[in-house]
Amino acid sequence: MMGLFKRIFSRTKKIQGEVLVTGGTGFIGSHTVVDLLESGFSVVIVDNLENSSEKVLDRIEEIVGEKAFEKLTFYEADIRDEEALTSIFDAHDIKNVIHFAGLKAVGESVEKPLEYYDNNIAGTCTLCKVMGNAGCKSIIFSSSSTVYGDPDTLPLTEESPKKPATNPYGWTKWMIEQILTDLYTADPEWDVVLLRYFNPIGAHVSGLIGEDPKGIPNNLVPYIAQTAVGKRDKVHVFGDDYATPDGTGIRDYIHVVDLAAGHVAALQWMQGHTGVEIFNLGTGSGSSVLEVIKAFQTASGQEIPYVIEERRAGDIAQNFADATKAEKILGWKAEKTLEDMVRDSWNWQSKNPEGLEG
Ligand code: NAD
Ligand code: WQD
Repeated sequence: MMGLFKRIFSRTKKIQGEVLVTGGTGFIGSHTVVDLLESGFSVVIVDNLENSSEKVLDRIEEIVGEKAFEKLTFYEADIRDEEALTSIFDAHDIKNVIHFAGLKAVGESVEKPLEYYDNNIAGTCTLCKVMGNAGCKSIIFSSSSTVYGDPDTLPLTEESPKKPATNPYGWTKWMIEQILTDLYTADPEWDVVLLRYFNPIGAHVSGLIGEDPKGIPNNLVPYIAQTAVGKRDKVHVFGDDYATPDGTGIRDYIHVVDLAAGHVAALQWMQGHTGVEIFNLGTGSGSSVLEVIKAFQTASGQEIPYVIEERRAGDIAQNFADATKAEKILGWKAEKTLEDMVRDSWNWQSKNPEGLEG
């Protein structure tokens, strides 16, 4: 058991209707916890801090205020630790789980497949086992547009075919979607929502929380942000010979605050529901690498040098979502523009140039 009961802010007795957020101190998890607390939910975070800092909790308190923060309990624990998870479910009245915890670096997953399969897949199986034992059968899972692979047609709808993954990380998303679907087939009391995120970027408008990658960033916007702040010399643009207007890759970037709101909308929608439902969470339009660099340059007022390199293995030319299903069913729609995203990324990066542990 890893540091269980390390930091408990408030509750010692059973409370009605808490939401367990695995990976709640991470990038997307922390923004979702803020939205949940501001929406009046009681929240229990389980995170092993493998890719996040406990300092995020102080930042969350600063954003939501002392009163809302009293509704938060944090456990430093691993989702693969069945005993720890069982104690947490015993101590709380958890009705719903939002499951972010996992490893997410595509390149690292190729080098360390067992770590990825163990953490993401075995971790999810342990979590679901403990949930089932506790009679909590409602889960929202962080999936990814990576399950669509290289698309035949755009935009991608939830009915677009899943393609074989090109790396172990992608396979874990692919397989966990299948595992959760099979769980529902075996026991129709389960309520599963699979949220397929496109490319989350941005940060809370306060600049208090944001993406805090360890080491050299794999993703475009954290790399640009570190270049703007002077930590990296230049951005390496992976290919300018794609069949896109400027030759660089196009993605559907979505503000993390919009993404967080999508989870709260899904949580509210799924109450009393059973089944498996898939939603794309994207904006519905794409931006190229060069457009993102340009927008960041404008927002930050910093020059962002870049160099064109070879294509990165496994990359696709473009993808973007058809996000109308989420709008029709959940009443959720991404509101923020690329300018909002890069402004908030810059605000976070410039206020925290070394991240939270720096
Ligand atoms: P993140 O690394 O910032 O957050 C994940 C959190 O999970 C971290 O705080 C980490 O410490 C924790 N964690 C990892 N393994 C754990 C374990 N075994 N037990 C307990 N905690 C554990 O990542 P993120 O960007 O916030 O992503 C959250 C989820 O969304 C992940 O499942 C990721 O695969 C998925 N996702 C992310 C993106 C993206 O581009 N960021 C896109 C699509 C899907
Ligand atoms: C975006 C664009 C690159 C870095 C990955 C995962 C996906 C999801 C989101 C977690 C592409 C280009 C990038 C750089 C560049 N993650 N790029 N220079 O690859 O769309 O998606 O993150 O679930 O599953 O696959 O995101 O930010 O890495 O790349 O030119 O230094 O930027 O080629 O066109 P990607 P990304």
